[in-house]
Amino acid sequence: MAISEQAERTDRATREVVRNPYSVLPNWLYPTFVVVALSAFGLYAAWVVFLQPAGYFAPYLSPFDSPWIKSGIPPGIFVAWAPLAFRLTCYYYRKAYFRSFFWHPRSCAVNEPQRGKYRGETAFPWILNNLHRYAFYATVVQVAFLWFDAIVAFDFGGRFGIGLGTLVMLVNVILLSGYTFGCHAFRHLAGGELDCFTCSRTARVRWRLWKGVTVLNVRHDRWAWASLVSVLLTDVYIRLLMSGVLHDPRWIS
Ligand code: FES
Repeated sequence: MAISEQAERTDRATREVVRNPYSVLPNWLYPTFVVVALSAFGLYAAWVVFLQPAGYFAPYLSPFDSPWIKSGIPPGIFVAWAPLAFRLTCYYYRKAYFRSFFWHPRSCAVNEPQRGKYRGETAFPWILNNLHRYAFYATVVQVAFLWFDAIVAFDFGGRFGIGLGTLVMLVNVILLSGYTFGCHAFRHLAGGELDCFTCSRTARVRWRLWKGVTVLNVRHDRWAWASLVSVLLTDVYIRLLMSGVLHDPRWIS
């Protein structure tokens, strides 16, 4: 076969649509969704963190501002670095943004643009992704504060009650917990480097914990998106209450 014919065949094969055996959706759809969703969330988060006062409408506190550190600086600035670092270094989000923003590659079995020497996560800035475990520790502390906020959201001036905002905050912290405690790094902390799951009481406890984390970990991507959306909606809801656009339905004892 002539070299030019061979080259033409290779070129044609490269340009052919690669069908994904697991989905009938076009392979550009997922990257497009990720770019739009993460960009929209990033812009909203920057607006809230840098330009807005604390999202607080008693007894509800926005997850962007918890724990609320009162100073002359927007409180989100003290808080946002932890979930930002956690999501940026998350194993699932890494796949999502490498595929979507950098086409690295765009999808399985799809050619990617020519690049320089591939160094993976061994060079700056991607080497910072290896700090994910530490971002997990910081986020666990924040999730503890969010559970506290969700409990406080039942307290209406000393009386027990439930408002729509209470439910919104509760759902939000449940989704965030599902995302946080389904973390791959936590799964490794729970059950990694164990040669035997049943050889000691500690090993058995770790095995049970590992199994629990695995239940959440299986759908880690869905927890990631659901919790991202719930953080945004919780903040939007509280700010609409603050501005008087919405009225919070309440059932107080
Ligand atoms: S791997 Fe996604 S949060 Fe840790």
